[in-house]
Amino acid sequence: MALIQLPGLVDPHVHMRDPGATHKEDWDSGTCAALAGGYTCILAMPNTLPPITDATTLDASLTAASQKARCDYGLHLGAGTHNDTTANRLAPRVTGLKLYLDQTFGPLRLDGLRSMQAHMTLWPKNRPILCHAEGRTMAAAIMVAMLQDRPVHICHVSRREEIVLIRAARERGLLVTCEVTPHHLFLTDSDVSGLGSGRSEVRPRLNTAADQAVLWQALNDGVVDCIATDHAPHTPAEKDNDDPPPGFPGLETALGLLLGAVRDRRLTQDRLVSLMHTNPLRIFRLASQTET
Ligand code: DOR
Ligand code: ZN
Ligand code: ZN
Repeated sequence: MALIQLPGLVDPHVHMRDPGATHKEDWDSGTCAALAGGYTCILAMPNTLPPITDATTLDASLTAASQKARCDYGLHLGAGTHNDTTANRLAPRVTGLKLYLDQTFGPLRLDGLRSMQAHMTLWPKNRPILCHAEGRTMAAAIMVAMLQDRPVHICHVSRREEIVLIRAARERGLLVTCEVTPHHLFLTDSDVSGLGSGRSEVRPRLNTAADQAVLWQALNDGVVDCIATDHAPHTPAEKDNDDPPPGFPGLETALGLLLGAVRDRRLTQDRLVSLMHTNPLRIFRLASQTET
């Protein structure tokens, strides 16, 4: 049996449900899942209940994390319609600013162009902005970031046309980075009937095999920077009810799936380390865990 040695993995996109829905996940259970899956550092999203958008909610979440987390962590702040100046002041305490530009789970949603422009103008240029932005919304986010001459990180890219646009933007020197999820790499819309409609509910939705092939190509040729699980736990009862929330858990399964891809020669081990360790550390400006 071959020995495989990997550095601690870094996941820049997970959902802890702490506060608000700790029966689904809290900083304890979520970081246990991370360690079980080979991750030693996770960056959590702000779409909790209440969402993390100001000093009070940030303090509460960081306190819970410091008491319960079992691995390294960071927290992304949520961009709201009225918190652009507050966000700027809180920037040193978080790992990024998350802009929800399309509808997904939770109350955070930035409608219209003005708030996106305000956040992209005020947030420090040397700190990451992450966007949930699909299709045309993604094009708008890249355009606004370009006009501000600032980097932007596109979450969970899932479609061919999005990769085409990101590739073209990077060729022109724009500061765009992106991530893909294991579920978009391993599942397509043809899996929906087998999984059932509630269990397969996720944002962005599962897409076609042609989209998936483009993701694998971009994973290998360097257009995709990171693999992020978008670990988003919900209860089985919720997933099976009439209004199922979107999201899959992923922290415990991602590495096994990706090592399978290495075995099948769909990916090299070196590339896996770049996608799941080196690049997230660089993009989110985290201290290297291997150089202490
Ligand atoms: O499927 C998803 N679930 N996509 C998101 O963007 C949010 C996440 C969640 O928080 O459940
Ligand atoms: Zn998202
Ligand atoms: Zn997410």
